[in-house]
Amino acid sequence: MAIKIDFRSDTVTRPTAGMLEAMMTAKVGDDVFEEDETVCQLETKLATKFHMEAGLFCPSGTMSNQIAIKCFTQPMDEVICDQTAHVYRYEGGGIAYHSMASVRLLNGERGILTPELIEPEINESNIHYPQSSLVVLENTVNKGGGACYTLSQIEPIHTLCNIKGLRLHLDGARIFNALVATGDDSRKYGQYFDGISVCLSKGLGAPVGSVLLGSKEMILKARKIRKAFGGGMRQAGFLAAAGIYALDHHVERLAEDQLHAKALEAALLPLSFVANVIPVETNIVIFEVAAGIITEKLLHQLAEKGIACSATGPKTIRLVTHLDISPAMIDMAIENFKHL
Ligand SMILES: Cc1ncc(COP(=O)(O)O)c(C=O)c1O
Repeated sequence: MAIKIDFRSDTVTRPTAGMLEAMMTAKVGDDVFEEDETVCQLETKLATKFHMEAGLFCPSGTMSNQIAIKCFTQPMDEVICDQTAHVYRYEGGGIAYHSMASVRLLNGERGILTPELIEPEINESNIHYPQSSLVVLENTVNKGGGACYTLSQIEPIHTLCNIKGLRLHLDGARIFNALVATGDDSRKYGQYFDGISVCLSKGLGAPVGSVLLGSKEMILKARKIRKAFGGGMRQAGFLAAAGIYALDHHVERLAEDQLHAKALEAALLPLSFVANVIPVETNIVIFEVAAGIITEKLLHQLAEKGIACSATGPKTIRLVTHLDISPAMIDMAIENFKHL
């Protein structure tokens, strides 16, 4: 049966008619020459929103994260992050490959780090040890079922990094989901992070793109690294226009994705094939299958009913709500769950 409801990821969305119109009418130039006014507009818009000095439009979240890590480390340094972090697990070994740095993995609760977890893992200066130079946080935490940091949790981590001379980078692939859930002020992020990567192609529904934010000096370095990575794009304004449209039209509606995720959580909890559901905070629902249930078989049964989900481990299944999931689809999915 053809898939009708795609919960695999919030990256599967298609541009809306309004977004396509914005893309087609964008004013463009050669962005490698820094002559694309739509790209500049997007970079400035996001830098202002997060109170950072400058921005750099990149083709993907992976590239913007890896550029930031390269900016903030030297070969033989060490990056501190959670063991579930996207930068470590799902970016193709990029930290080792691009930055020649080692990684210290921590065990946060649902991927959320604290100063108490980080401080003992910072190496003292000693020729035997890699130099701890960077902490990476992820907000929201993808593998943590969309768990989010509040600014009050981030502030003490920033203070620790400041005291110890470490840089702090945010993988903000889903930062707007976190902002909508916490009600935090995006402008305050600028005072805590040295780098922020914001994705436009996840919950915001743009087809392509991430923007790396930082100081003017950092972004100058990042621009050079982006070139070396092959990420300098020419008339990229067509893509940036989709990002601007998404920022103007698709941020507030993330609250709807959160409500949909909560409805899925409530519907899944009592079902016999579900052992437990990680409490929903944003747009990601992860549940553990009950004993005796074979994950692959359950995924197949769901697919036969036109519902696509993905496994995040041998016993866990993930559903992500997004722009292309309507209230009717949520009702339909819930009805189908009951008949599995
Ligand atoms: C938390 C997180 N960071 C970074 C990325 C990388 O984004 P991209 O797929 O654009 O490289 C993803 C992708 O899903 C993600 O979930």
